[in-house]
Amino acid sequence: MNTQFFEGQKPGTSGLRKKVSVFQQPHYLENFIQSIFDSLEDCQNKTLVVGGDGRYYNKTAIQTIVKMATANGFGRMLIGQNGILSTPAVSAIIRKYHAFGGIILSASHNPGGPDGDFGIKYNISNGGPAPEKLTEAIYEHSLKISNYRISETMDIDLSELGQMQVGEMTVEIIDSVADYAELMAQIFDFDKIKDLFQSGFTLCFDAMHAVTGPYARLILEDQLGAPSGTVINAIPLEDFGGGHPDPNLVYATDLVKKVYGENALQFGAASDGDGDRNMILGQDFFVTPSDSLAVLAANAHLIPAYKEGLAGIARSMPTSAAADRVAAALGIDCFETPTGWKFFGNLLDAGKVTLCGEESFGTSSNHVREKDGVWAVLFWLNILAVRQESVESIVRAHWAKYGRHFYSRHDYENININTAEKLMDNLSKTFNVMKKGQSFGSYLVDYCDNFSYTDPIDASTSAKQGMRIVFQEGSRIVFRLSGTGTNGATLRVYLEFFETNIAKHSLDVQEVLADLIVLADVIAGIKKFTGRDKPSLIT
Ligand code: G1P
Ligand code: ZN
Repeated sequence: MNTQFFEGQKPGTSGLRKKVSVFQQPHYLENFIQSIFDSLEDCQNKTLVVGGDGRYYNKTAIQTIVKMATANGFGRMLIGQNGILSTPAVSAIIRKYHAFGGIILSASHNPGGPDGDFGIKYNISNGGPAPEKLTEAIYEHSLKISNYRISETMDIDLSELGQMQVGEMTVEIIDSVADYAELMAQIFDFDKIKDLFQSGFTLCFDAMHAVTGPYARLILEDQLGAPSGTVINAIPLEDFGGGHPDPNLVYATDLVKKVYGENALQFGAASDGDGDRNMILGQDFFVTPSDSLAVLAANAHLIPAYKEGLAGIARSMPTSAAADRVAAALGIDCFETPTGWKFFGNLLDAGKVTLCGEESFGTSSNHVREKDGVWAVLFWLNILAVRQESVESIVRAHWAKYGRHFYSRHDYENININTAEKLMDNLSKTFNVMKKGQSFGSYLVDYCDNFSYTDPIDASTSAKQGMRIVFQEGSRIVFRLSGTGTNGATLRVYLEFFETNIAKHSLDVQEVLADLIVLADVIAGIKKFTGRDKPSLIT
């Protein structure tokens, strides 16, 4: 078979993500899929789950994967109807049917359409993202691959539920939502949430024209009785309606209009392209993802599936330490991992943690091995149904008890890759000569390092996971380069200021963080290197 090399296909934080046009190059997709299959143990007669977020190229890629899976000896494929499966649904389905693994076609929150992005992730039999060892093996293989196996069968019909044969392999087109909805009903108190909606509680879920529309409609509107129209932008579109399916205050504009200002609804939520992220809003009130994780942990005993308590909590390093305080109060461990969901897998499998979260609008539990947007929304609704208080009063009471981590992330997108690397090199030199107790205004350095993680289960280490400078009394600045962008480099600057006396500060987070924002530039020379005097995105 005639193939060509693509200088290796290196998966980033969450699989391989490139422009659609890159995937459309002859043999590009095939090379990567074959590199995955060749890096796995024997896949003969095994079951493979496949689905995606519905973006442009999703169905085309699935047709190719079907032909390659049968040629590589898989015995069975489970494919979401019309090629649709959210990332957490793939994880749930792999686990429920004891599949060998799954392929998720998504570039998460990155824009879609012919000029947008496409992506592929491989998930292993625990339902979670491939660990680094496997993604490295896939990459190494992609450097030397010389042929791939593909059968010359016809395209299949993805629109009808049912079973068919493709060569020796059985293909089942499955309902995209049913298995996932069944799992949610096992975790949460659906009756309580139904009562909440019956009492006239007002809410909106923004699916952002991405994958969660069908999930949220079935669960919130059909099963839990939320008024029809609660879920907006509910039909998955190949280009997400031209939008950027990333649930934050900047991109979820339709939702923001409904929960802020006059006639604001009591609750708002949004999810991203592939359904693993979530944003939670109360009336005129934004819950930071770091706070959300902490509030879920502190209230987990109210949820049927977690009423026996949590084994532990894990958060990614740049996520604020709000959850650590809850863990300390509960007397359970809180693990700090590198950015990316794959680092939670071993801890979840070993039963060391029940809840996990990232500052990038990702939260989940041991029910799957991915972050889960709709699950987080149901968790909040279940808490609200039990506590009968507003989102804002629950969060304010939380701060009063545990203290508040003022938190924000500043992104400098699409900067020159060499510039970004120079900035990080320079930062590492600065860190080398930084001393404990060194003062920057009122901030005294506790320590600084390039975060390195040793997995407590398999002892694998992941070095250089982010430059952090931690000040005495718990404030921090973290600098790292994104592993998921497709345009140049993205510098992420994470700012955190801890305060126990929350009455002392104005509520404008950027104002509270103003000194740290200046310090970040002093320490890293952001303006000097990039020429930018402000970030392109603040979350
Ligand atoms: C980003 C987020 C990270 C998340 C990943 C996949 O990665 O920061 O928390 O796990 O997307 O959704 P980054 O671009 O920062 O490497
Ligand atoms: Zn996502």
